[in-house]
Amino acid sequence: MMTKVTVQGSHGHRRRKVDIPGQVGTITFQNPSGELIRVSERLRAKITALGTYVPPRVLTNKDFEKMVETTDEWILTRTGIRERHVVDKGVATSDLATEAAKCALAQRGIDPKDLDAIIVATVTPDMLFPSTACLVQHKLGAQGVWGFDLSAACSAFVYALQAGAQFIASGAHKKVMVIGSDTMSSILDYTDRATCILFGDGAGAVLLEPSEDGMGIIDFQHEIDGSGACSLYMPGGGSLNPSSHETVDKKMHFVHQDGQAVFKYAVRKMGEVCEKLLARNGVTAADIDCFIPHQANQRIIKATADRVGLKPESIIINIDRYGNTTAGTIPLAMQTAREEGRLKKGDLVLLASVGAGFTVGATLLRWTI
Ligand SMILES: CC(C)(COP(=O)(O)OP(=O)(O)OC[C@H]1O[C@@H](n2cnc3c(N)ncnc32)[C@H](O)[C@@H]1OP(=O)(O)O)[C@@H](O)C(=O)NCCC(=O)NCCS
Repeated sequence: MMTKVTVQGSHGHRRRKVDIPGQVGTITFQNPSGELIRVSERLRAKITALGTYVPPRVLTNKDFEKMVETTDEWILTRTGIRERHVVDKGVATSDLATEAAKCALAQRGIDPKDLDAIIVATVTPDMLFPSTACLVQHKLGAQGVWGFDLSAACSAFVYALQAGAQFIASGAHKKVMVIGSDTMSSILDYTDRATCILFGDGAGAVLLEPSEDGMGIIDFQHEIDGSGACSLYMPGGGSLNPSSHETVDKKMHFVHQDGQAVFKYAVRKMGEVCEKLLARNGVTAADIDCFIPHQANQRIIKATADRVGLKPESIIINIDRYGNTTAGTIPLAMQTAREEGRLKKGDLVLLASVGAGFTVGATLLRWTI
């Protein structure tokens, strides 16, 4: 039987109609080098390199005691944070992202020009346009590559990972750099003790490539819920409230948060998406070797792990060192897990996040480096 399949190539490729004998669910695709690639639905993306970067300057809880009415003890017990890294003036999200991407490229031993696409997950782009991906592409010298920014706050890295994985799974690309990078210090009100102590700056990058052995990114469960927009947002500087003296006077260019509302939502939804994802894949909590959650609050992480029934030794926590770096947290936590010898090739890994929006995400994967 011949099945007619219409293939829309990306990267400006020709639209091709391909006849494939008896293979429903299989497409044939022409890549940029002109090779014809046959792709089954089961083709997976895998992580082949991981690079991270945090700026050298550290702000400790003791430093905050001199800035706002707070204590090291309050911050540590309510959040789990001891210190966070912050940029010096003039250093932006694209700089952190570029450093992280350089590490990943060096680890894999490939040239930036070998990339097909760069996706930058961020809520603190250098500017509204051009995209931070364009700035990173230029800083890396990755000529011929395309890319874009993805905005999903603290879930942006897992969303970008999935977007990148789809380009690999479709056969469109062979090398996608997925970067989570945020400079939260650029949008924090350092007189608001309820928010400024929570966040730090940092970035992480993973390289995605096709998996030949079925290992890699297995499945995901992502959800958005805009009814939570009023619980965590930055009202100034967009089309609704363009920058003006008034928006600056009213501190509208800073993070505004209803901490308790975010906390309750995060505890409920992070567990829920994890449970759905595990059940759909016939995986139990005991099968998870490494749980790498978004690092917003140690209490949220522990409540989620308890609800899902994850093994205590599988839980990765580095919020004490970095605070919440938004899109940077999950790749930074992957790095911590590797450094601590708690993430090995072949491990079954669960990623989970909740962020402004609300955005919720969970990803199941087999670790491949
Ligand atoms: C922000 C957060 C740590 C606050 O902890 P909490 O236990 O909910 O504390 P509350 O907001 O109820 O505040 C309790 C008291 O502590 C005070 N407080 C807030 N920040 C403080 C600080 N840095 N130091 C000392 N006291 C502080 C509050 O003013 C409040 O005082 P009051 O009772 O006199 O009004 C917690 O709500 C949280 O982590 N929320 C989720 C945040 C998050 O994940 N954001 C990113 C999403 S990805």
